[in-house]
Amino acid sequence: MTTTTLTSFDKLRESVVGLHQQVPLLDGSFRTYINFDNAASTPPLGGVLEKVNAFMEWYSSVHRGSGFKSQISTSAFEEARRIIGDFVGARPAEHVVIFGKNASEAINKLAFRLSLNPQDVVLVSLMEHHSNDLPWRARAQVEHIEVDALGQLDETDFEARLARLAGRVKLVAITGASNVTGFLPDIHRLAVKAHQAGAQILVDCAQLAPHRRVDMLPLNNPAHLDYVALSAHKMYAPFGTGVLVGRRDTFEQGEPEYRGGGTIKIVTPTTVDWSSPPEKEEAGSPNVVGAVAMAAAIKFMQSIGMAAIADHEAELTAYALEKLAGLPRIEIYGDAVPGNSRNRLGVIPFNIAGFSHYLVAAILSAEWGIGVRNGCFCAHPYLLHLMGIAEAEAEKVRQNILNNDRREMPGMVRVSFGIYNTREEIDVLAQALSRIAAGNYAGKYYQDKESGEFRPEGWSFDPREYFDL
Ligand code: ALA
Repeated sequence: MTTTTLTSFDKLRESVVGLHQQVPLLDGSFRTYINFDNAASTPPLGGVLEKVNAFMEWYSSVHRGSGFKSQISTSAFEEARRIIGDFVGARPAEHVVIFGKNASEAINKLAFRLSLNPQDVVLVSLMEHHSNDLPWRARAQVEHIEVDALGQLDETDFEARLARLAGRVKLVAITGASNVTGFLPDIHRLAVKAHQAGAQILVDCAQLAPHRRVDMLPLNNPAHLDYVALSAHKMYAPFGTGVLVGRRDTFEQGEPEYRGGGTIKIVTPTTVDWSSPPEKEEAGSPNVVGAVAMAAAIKFMQSIGMAAIADHEAELTAYALEKLAGLPRIEIYGDAVPGNSRNRLGVIPFNIAGFSHYLVAAILSAEWGIGVRNGCFCAHPYLLHLMGIAEAEAEKVRQNILNNDRREMPGMVRVSFGIYNTREEIDVLAQALSRIAAGNYAGKYYQDKESGEFRPEGWSFDPREYFDL
């Protein structure tokens, strides 16, 4: 890594909002919070917040007013659309950039828009987030492409399904990066195979886009991506925006999903003429603040460079994998080889043998000020597979949950890195896990039956002491 890059990262770290936030610990002390939950949501960058504050001086209605501020707001909204499209290699003649509130909504929007019959097949993978599985189950026959023991996509199974279902697969819907193991499928290779079989491809880029360059490629390239979904709250711009970018010809078809302001050309008491995409897909006043924030975050990431971001995070991931491998009783899921860290994201799931994932996460929070996520990460089928939980056992778990008892819910602890995390933070995590694995923790924890969560006995706090409205 060059000195220039290091300096950029140091500056970037200083600009992350809330990075120096002190949080209370069980022993009465305070500690600077360590956020290892970036796969769920990233904090805003200072530059994003500054841009939002500057924009607020000009905030007004978009596409609706003739006042000067309205013109500035409309221009900012459309400029944000252009920046976001460029970021994923969209070509205005071929693609539309549609704003919504998150990647889940973007995928549901596509599921509404695509012309699918109940007998059509959508191939998803076993590693999908529920948001790229459940919308398709409602519209078509869903088949899951297998993954291996490390959670990596089985491309032989993919090809076999395409061949067996010849002519029936209308869409391959696959994540660009697993939110559980950080696995990176070769999306362009999959795209070539999908297109050869007459299918289109959607890549859920919610996890991928903050960490790697995405390029949809022109539609005449067999490796092109037909649709991508993005979520700004995983891209350092948590202001309620998500985006669906997709082929224009698809969105030129059909009536709007939501009808109302902004979706029409002209309305009479008896007729409606719909506007063209993207407007037809964006009913109501849009979230211009979210769009501005997302575009500002993208410009910031581009100024650092997506290759430099990938380098920095790969280095952190290799370091974390080395540290975790040296600890007793830690089982890491997925590819745990530090030397492979460039071919995956910095998302590491693990368990400590003999400890509930709920308990480990609770101790990390209450005694170390470390924020992680635990559980199944909205990817239940993938977790069951990675943990080797057989059908009968899974059914027992299901029945427990239906009886409001999550105490035995299988799961993992997940750490996930962002551009601002450091080796020193990973050292604290390793120290914490080593102590926990040795049974060396101070609190007494009880488990709540309904949520499954562990909570320290005799310790509570009023969240409003820290933030109140
Ligand atoms: N999909 C997000 C996660 O993995 C919410 O945490």
